[in-house]
Amino acid sequence: MADHQHGSYSTELLDLDGEVLADHLSAVTGWIAGHLGDHPVHHIVDLGAGTGTGTFALLGRFGDAEVTAVDASADMLAHLTHRAKHHGVDHRVTTRQADLDTGHLDTEPADLTWASASMHHMAHPERVLADIRTGLTPGGLFAMIEFETFPRFLPDDFGLGTPGLEERCNALADRMRESQHPTVNSDWGARLAESGFTVHEERTFGIDVPAPLSAVATRYARVTLSRLRQGLGAQLSDDDRTTLDALLAETGPHRLENRTDLVVRSSRRAWIASGQVLA
Ligand SMILES: C[S@@+](CC[C@H](N)C(=O)[O-])C[C@H]1O[C@@H](n2cnc3c(N)ncnc32)[C@H](O)[C@@H]1O
Repeated sequence: MADHQHGSYSTELLDLDGEVLADHLSAVTGWIAGHLGDHPVHHIVDLGAGTGTGTFALLGRFGDAEVTAVDASADMLAHLTHRAKHHGVDHRVTTRQADLDTGHLDTEPADLTWASASMHHMAHPERVLADIRTGLTPGGLFAMIEFETFPRFLPDDFGLGTPGLEERCNALADRMRESQHPTVNSDWGARLAESGFTVHEERTFGIDVPAPLSAVATRYARVTLSRLRQGLGAQLSDDDRTTLDALLAETGPHRLENRTDLVVRSSRRAWIASGQVLA
């Protein structure tokens, strides 16, 4: 499948996501380490690895591990390899280009398989879940993360346009996402159980970066809101479009970078599961 079909996320946005949400990632990998206990972690599969946000967080958490980063997009994997070299961890990373809509996950057995914001992209998640389950070492775990609420940055009423801009934008974006990715808001706990996994824990991780935001976090707000503006286009009211354009202008009094009230608020849902031995 062509890159652009998997490339609805820009490499810049994924990198910013990893940088701004570093504390969140650390909390998630710490939670996983707690579940793994004494189980040695030598091989990790990062499924739908993108630019490697998960790969690098996991390499940091599990010092003896090597990661196989799997993605359909050659561009994403090239970017990941570049970053791995930059961080001096390329000897611990292998990339595998595979479109899991058509091919199988034929990686070496994994002590941990991680899939962050990638499972809802899969056209046949049950098939991929079956590959993940049979690809775990005995005692190995599958950690899956999906967006619960997409990032919000602005107060409800920020003195420009009609209050509630972001809620309206995100409601439209949610509808678009559901039509593109029908499984995005499905009951993943049930899907995991149906695929033969035992879910050990399911929980929400809240993300709350307070004002004032750093320059990097403000950039994250700009890139995210620009993508909403581009994606929603004519679906926005004239009023909301004008407000977003004023926020996203490179110059002018209302540009995002002039605001001191921006925050990052979001939440992600996580599941940790093992491959049940079926009688
Ligand atoms: C939202 S990004 C998440 C990236 C990364 N896991 C993260 O958390 O930053 C989803 C990734 O899944 C990949 N992807 C989508 N469909 C895929 C498929 N059928 N097979 C393999 N990878 C796929 C995309 O190329 C993209 O890199």
